[in-house]
Amino acid sequence: MNSISKNVSSIELSGIRKFYNKLVNYPDAISLTLGQPDFNVPKKIKAAMIQSIEENKTGYTSNAGIIELREEISKYLANLGIHYTAGETCITIGGSEALMDVFATLVNTGDKVLIPTPAYPAYESCVKILGGSVINYSLNDDFSINFDSLKKILDKEKPKLIVLSYPCNPTGAILSKEDSTNLFNLLKANDILVLSDEIYASLCFEKDYYSIAQYKEIKDKVILIGGFSKMFSMTGLRIGYVCANTYFMNEIIKVHQYNVSCAPSISQWGAYAGLKSCMEDVNYMKSKFMERRDYVFNSLKSLGFKVNLPKGAFYIFPSIKKFGMNSNDFCEKLLKEGGVAIVPGSAFGSGGEDHVRISYAYSMEELKLSLSKIEKWLHTLKI
Ligand SMILES: Cc1ncc(COP(=O)(O)O)c(C=O)c1O
Repeated sequence: MNSISKNVSSIELSGIRKFYNKLVNYPDAISLTLGQPDFNVPKKIKAAMIQSIEENKTGYTSNAGIIELREEISKYLANLGIHYTAGETCITIGGSEALMDVFATLVNTGDKVLIPTPAYPAYESCVKILGGSVINYSLNDDFSINFDSLKKILDKEKPKLIVLSYPCNPTGAILSKEDSTNLFNLLKANDILVLSDEIYASLCFEKDYYSIAQYKEIKDKVILIGGFSKMFSMTGLRIGYVCANTYFMNEIIKVHQYNVSCAPSISQWGAYAGLKSCMEDVNYMKSKFMERRDYVFNSLKSLGFKVNLPKGAFYIFPSIKKFGMNSNDFCEKLLKEGGVAIVPGSAFGSGGEDHVRISYAYSMEELKLSLSKIEKWLHTLKI
């Protein structure tokens, strides 16, 4: 008897972690694999968490999370032109739980879910665990949406849900004004729900922020996910959130309740302090990520890589096509021979092949050392 569910055995561990785990065999190698900022958690967040322990705020919170934090999220989003009330917001254990809660609320066996390729691997895996059917939509060379292909898929497949992910892991793309208008028109005209993962919203390097959740006219079909792992460099403290109108929220909260009851109280107080008083820290981290982005982009260009300038998040996704290897072989060889770990583009779906993901959530010293190692290793390749 096969004791494992078919859905679960059909998926694999994330390719990001798989590559990270290989590092134990190469103790001298440098890793640029993880989306884990290297900054310390801002001091005021730490202090608020310590205080919450001292004040014994350590019991269960309401299922949706502390009202103070939900109200601050509502204000934060309003500054981005996105309007959800505290009652339309549920605090989750990272964006990860929020994703699973939303998929579990919406996806029946066989329901079609449109997911970009390349994309953050959790989308596809969550849908598969739930027995949904994944349909990929492809992106243009600059990682913007290929609207011709998307329109055809919408007409032919009539999917229930589309996932949008901006600023994007792994490509660093953001939603442009023009694409947000095109998307709005397309989604308005189709009977489809939208899951917009905006976990990197605070790391948009352009002045204006565009999101499909800004359009009031289709707000009732958009569900938004956000979180503080990246914004406050607090990945291990596990706070995210989901926003949706009450029709969806009443159902999402059931999944959340039976799954986790509530997010950790102490971390909720930390995130609250973050939104109240750590925006300067966020801006500082963003400015550092932009310096690193420029450095990595320029270095890759001078090494001959074809690469788009990332406009958000902290990843860069150069093409490795000209090296005549698939992305997995490229990364294996670079790790073994060059001592640098990066993630094969194939870990993000078929659309990621011929690319690699480099995370620049690492210090400038580590980035400089890695890039010089990559340069040396490239010289050893006969191309
Ligand atoms: C696009 C995207 N969504 C969601 C998450 C989940 O993050 P967390 O659960 O730490 O909030 C990540 C983490 O890397 C991500 O890159």
